[in-house]
Amino acid sequence: MRRIMIVGATSGIGEGLARRYSAEGQVKVGVMGRRADRLKEFCQLRPEAFEAEACDVTKLEGLETSLERLAARMGGLDLLVLSAGTGELNPSLDYGIERPTLETNVLGWTCVADWAVRYFEQQGHGHLAAITSAGGLRGSGVAPAYSATKAFQMNYLEGLRQRLHGKKLPVHVTDLRPGFVDTVMAKGEGLFWVAPVDKACRQIMRGIARRKDVVYVTRRWRFVAWLYRRIPGWLFKRMQG
Ligand SMILES: NC(=O)c1ccc[n+]([C@@H]2O[C@H](COP(=O)([O-])OP(=O)(O)OC[C@H]3O[C@@H](n4cnc5c(N)ncnc54)[C@H](OP(=O)(O)O)[C@@H]3O)[C@@H](O)[C@H]2O)c1
Repeated sequence: MRRIMIVGATSGIGEGLARRYSAEGQVKVGVMGRRADRLKEFCQLRPEAFEAEACDVTKLEGLETSLERLAARMGGLDLLVLSAGTGELNPSLDYGIERPTLETNVLGWTCVADWAVRYFEQQGHGHLAAITSAGGLRGSGVAPAYSATKAFQMNYLEGLRQRLHGKKLPVHVTDLRPGFVDTVMAKGEGLFWVAPVDKACRQIMRGIARRKDVVYVTRRWRFVAWLYRRIPGWLFKRMQG
């Protein structure tokens, strides 16, 4: 029996992954997020496949206890998918808008990622897969906290991979970088190549199964990323709205 925890499973990509993984059979899926009613729906749907724990990753005091409790109820943990994230367009550069993004995508996110890696190191195997964003490759004039926090996550995951390589343990870290996926999170104008949730989930699951270090979702975003990183700074600043 595989045990998979999904932090941020109440909507969008996390919800899609929870549904798809649970359909595979021989699996226990632990779902987390703030919306308890949505978590309850999972358990009512298939009580044998789901365990749930409501939690807000920005409430750092109780966060590790919640993760421990859910893992214990699942009977252990093989894979943790960290999908929880937030971000808003912030043309007025209002700190009140930036702050929840920093608290969720940096403080809460790091607490969950660290807990998972310590857990897997202790048991000698496991897999952390985090959903970052192709948007973290460069700064964004319309959502600076979002792009900066996603850059933090990508860098942090690279650091974790380096740490684990040195320990020679079969503990894997996958950085999943979507372009645009059709969820409430896809905000702003001029969105292109917006992937349906189902297609994104399929590619995410394939990347996890292959234990890739970095996966672009959908695959064509790898080429966008390659180009995006090479735009010189003098030109890039002129491209921002
Ligand atoms: N959609 C895109 O175009 C796109 C592109 C690139 C990257 N991504 C990334 O993909 C991930 C999933 O986003 P999505 O598109 O699926 O959007 P979504 O539907 O808004 O999902 C976000 C998930 O994060 C959870 N979450 C947010 N704040 C939380 C908190 N403080 N504590 C616990 N859980 C929290 C939400 O649950 P509750 O609200 O119930 O807490 C929800 O389950 C995010 O990290 C996002 O940055 C998305």
